[in-house]
Amino acid sequence: MSTAFVPEDYFRQYSVPEIFGEGETCEVDLGCGDGGFLLAMAAHYPERRFLGVERLLGRIRKVCSESARRGLNNVRGLRVESRYFLEWLIAPGSISRLHYLFPDPWPKEKHHKNRLVQDSFIPVLHRALAPGGEVLFKTDHEDYFIWVCEKMEASPLFTRCDWVDEFYPKTDFQQQWEAMGKAIYAARFIRNNVI
Ligand SMILES: C[S@@+](CC[C@H](N)C(=O)[O-])C[C@H]1O[C@@H](n2cnc3c(N)ncnc32)[C@H](O)[C@@H]1O
Repeated sequence: MSTAFVPEDYFRQYSVPEIFGEGETCEVDLGCGDGGFLLAMAAHYPERRFLGVERLLGRIRKVCSESARRGLNNVRGLRVESRYFLEWLIAPGSISRLHYLFPDPWPKEKHHKNRLVQDSFIPVLHRALAPGGEVLFKTDHEDYFIWVCEKMEASPLFTRCDWVDEFYPKTDFQQQWEAMGKAIYAARFIRNNVI
């Protein structure tokens, strides 16, 4: 069983049933790395569907081989760039929860343009999420945390709310940063229905 999702055509949009074969929505782990979080979530919630998106081939191969080895048929791995995926590849309204965990913070000011979350990105995110969908964001980088929160809170498209009270495993990077004594910042944003 292969859990890789390899689009035949990168110039059209895919619905969740085309990716998983059933269900209208899925959860996405954006920049899933080696997939420790994704696989733990998929094992804990077998009734939900989890799509890992990652640009590094070696990492997405690891996610796919490990999910197949564990028999997790609710996982798919997709090698693609995050914004391209959200803007062009996934059909609107497909994502129930987007996990954005320990993304690259691009700390130098001259590299801020490379940060995924920009003003122009927020409508892209809103479009990809299903009604009532949400974004769960964690980082060890205080400056990027403030950057994301300011942009999301300034937008009428999202409302910030309390963190979830449920099983939510630590990612591989969270474990690394906590072992080094770093603080962890977390925020949750619900998609607003706007006309
Ligand atoms: C710091 S790691 C965090 C991995 C995982 N979320 C965790 O917390 O353990 C960031 C991951 O995002 C991936 N990544 C960075 N920019 C990306 C992009 N534009 N599109 C897809 N993946 C990206 C990196 O290759 C890397 O695996």
